[in-house]
Amino acid sequence: MEKYIEKLENIFKQAKQEIEEIKNLKELEEWKIKYLGRKSYLANFSEILKNLDLEERKKVGEFYNQTKEKLEKIYHQQKEKLSEEEIEFDFYHPGNQVYYPTLTLISSNLKKIIEIFQNMGFIIIDAPLIVSEYENFDSLNMPKFHPAREMWDTIWLKEPRNYLLRTHTSAFQVPFLKKYKPPIRGIVPGKVFRFEATDSRHDFEFYQIEGISVSENSNFSHLRYIFEEFFDNYFEKKITLRFRPSYFPFTEPSIEVDISCVLCNQRGCSVCKFSGWLEVAGAGMIHPFVLKEAGIDSKKFQGYAFGTGLERLIMLKYQINDIRLLHSSDLRTNEISS
Ligand code: PHE
Repeated sequence: MEKYIEKLENIFKQAKQEIEEIKNLKELEEWKIKYLGRKSYLANFSEILKNLDLEERKKVGEFYNQTKEKLEKIYHQQKEKLSEEEIEFDFYHPGNQVYYPTLTLISSNLKKIIEIFQNMGFIIIDAPLIVSEYENFDSLNMPKFHPAREMWDTIWLKEPRNYLLRTHTSAFQVPFLKKYKPPIRGIVPGKVFRFEATDSRHDFEFYQIEGISVSENSNFSHLRYIFEEFFDNYFEKKITLRFRPSYFPFTEPSIEVDISCVLCNQRGCSVCKFSGWLEVAGAGMIHPFVLKEAGIDSKKFQGYAFGTGLERLIMLKYQINDIRLLHSSDLRTNEISS
């Protein structure tokens, strides 16, 4: 009887010593086969027990059970430990999602748009967000009583009086033309602010890109060419343009600019409301009143101006259906661009 107990003790001692030196799961499985497998000493122990008398069988059997449990326990402990360690080297284990820093869609698209206009000889001007009443309205042929003021009359500062957050980048038309004498063409990209309830298509702040070109013969044909180049490059496909008559106090004549639907190529879809066209810009020939305010002789010089909304272009290009996603901090929105 003693000899069996001693044998079991020795087996456990040896097994324990070996398991402590094991460095990987493969070796551990070999250990398991050796000590707990079908051909192990323990697996065939019932043969030994059979030949013992009842009293001995009870004692040795109990010791056998304890030894087996102890072996299983150290096996599981070691397995857990090695599994944790090995995870570092498991190239198939799914990792945590890493968000690499990228420019936001607003910044990366603005950058692209600036590049396109720069390539066509436009200078890029950063203008102030806070402007005077004169710049936002009067200089653009909108005196105090003008009804067009109502939809653009928005966020005023308490101090200094008569200053407001610009409602359109057009507020920089006169300062721009005063500073840069014609012939000149440039764009003024930047944020504008509106007194506006937000929904999926509107926000109270968004980006506009103002374009201004004044020379002795800047005209609608030039504007059409510039727009064709711009939209083809921006959407990376052939775009058809449509000019529709419209009204702005600071341009005469004024137009709305439509592009062929970039989503359905004019086959008709819900985004273009089955018209095949998308409205993307307001534009026109700069009103002589505005040129005069800038100190430019309107008999000698003429020019066009346009304004387009950045978010709308981004939404069309990346098929984003809510403008608020572009202004939120949800990093997944930026993943679309990469
Ligand atoms: N400022 C106009 C707007 O915000 C757009 C525009 C710019 C129209 C330049 C004509 C010329 O809607």
